[in-house]
Amino acid sequence: MTEEQILKALEAVMDPDLNRNIVELGFVQNLVIGEDNSVSMELVLTTPACPIRDRFKEQCERIILALGASSAEVTLSAKAGRVSMPEVSESFLNDVTHIVAVASGKGGVGKSTVTANLAVALSLSGARVGILDADIYGPSMGVMFGIDQAPAVYEDKTISPVLARGGISIVSMSMFSDSDRATIWRGPMASQMIKNFLHRVRWGTLDYLLVDFPPGTGDIQLTLTQECPLSGAVVVTTPQEVALADCRKGLSMFDSVGVPVLGVVENMSYFICDKCQKEHYIFPQGGGERISKTFGVPLLGKIPMEAALASCGDQGIPGVLYNPNSVSAEVFTQVASEAVRKISVFAAMASESLSTFRYTFEELPEESL
Ligand SMILES: Nc1ncnc2c1ncn2[C@@H]1O[C@H](COP(=O)(O)OP(=O)(O)O)[C@@H](O)[C@H]1O
Ligand SMILES: [Mg+2]
Repeated sequence: MTEEQILKALEAVMDPDLNRNIVELGFVQNLVIGEDNSVSMELVLTTPACPIRDRFKEQCERIILALGASSAEVTLSAKAGRVSMPEVSESFLNDVTHIVAVASGKGGVGKSTVTANLAVALSLSGARVGILDADIYGPSMGVMFGIDQAPAVYEDKTISPVLARGGISIVSMSMFSDSDRATIWRGPMASQMIKNFLHRVRWGTLDYLLVDFPPGTGDIQLTLTQECPLSGAVVVTTPQEVALADCRKGLSMFDSVGVPVLGVVENMSYFICDKCQKEHYIFPQGGGERISKTFGVPLLGKIPMEAALASCGDQGIPGVLYNPNSVSAEVFTQVASEAVRKISVFAAMASESLSTFRYTFEELPEESL
């Protein structure tokens, strides 16, 4: 049994998203054949949150054993491939592999709830995760994670994020004593604060940094999309969403800077009754589907309304941590793994041409809106 034979056999293992085999993709590394015919190898995936990593591992082990190895040891690791992005000089963002925007057309749709719970779901899957709460007029990560601590500020005016529940590194306007004054800030001051958040935070090494965008498409959002090398965006909406125009603006904002929209998350899709566990559809349905169809972006999932989810937010423990067996936790976990899968696909394709994956809004027939 030679190294070549093993590699040849491992070519049978395909990555269903990238549509190539794991050898070709360079996932197989540090292949060692011991004197006793034992085989060990490392499988370096594009994301630590790979939803099928266990299947990969099992397939590889089976193939190696079938070749006659006395034992097969496959260790999993991940090195996220980065989408080609504008260089941000002198920024601590350079050690952050993927920055993902969480955005919405309007406030109150549960954007922050989605951000917090996706972050926790990713962290539980083994990724290093941070949250930049960029909603400086309505910061909520402090409350959602129960943070009462201020970040460390260094002499060079850089700061460290606060390490919160679930191992999430967080920076939020709510951590600063003058956060109340932010509500009266004018555009330029707010944009300056956002730039500080982007460039003066010592994030350290992160796999995913989720950015809780302010709702809508104002100055701050534009600053963020221009200065932040985003790998993709998740758009949060509700089933009763009627204003496709808001959503269209948001999507075209990302489109104009070449940021792929990973998909839409519909929040508060239905209500699960604590008593009878039945699903009740309170709002008119179909908002998420309509956006998905109209704009050609995937619907990543539908989050139910749960009384516990709202109270977790108030208690400072994201639902996925507090109530991991809830329906919402399950959906958040699925949405997180689907989103990072999409990121990996876009990252892999980026070198070829990202532009082919972008929707050109000028091409949208008006009547479809
Ligand atoms: N799926 C849900 N079930 C129950 N309550 C929710 C859900 N999503 C959001 N909420 C609650 O709705 C309110 C608004 O959510 P939030 O995440 O702050 O919205 P946004 O950031 O879009 O303004 C919060 O009180 C939150 O706890
Ligand atoms: Mg919010």
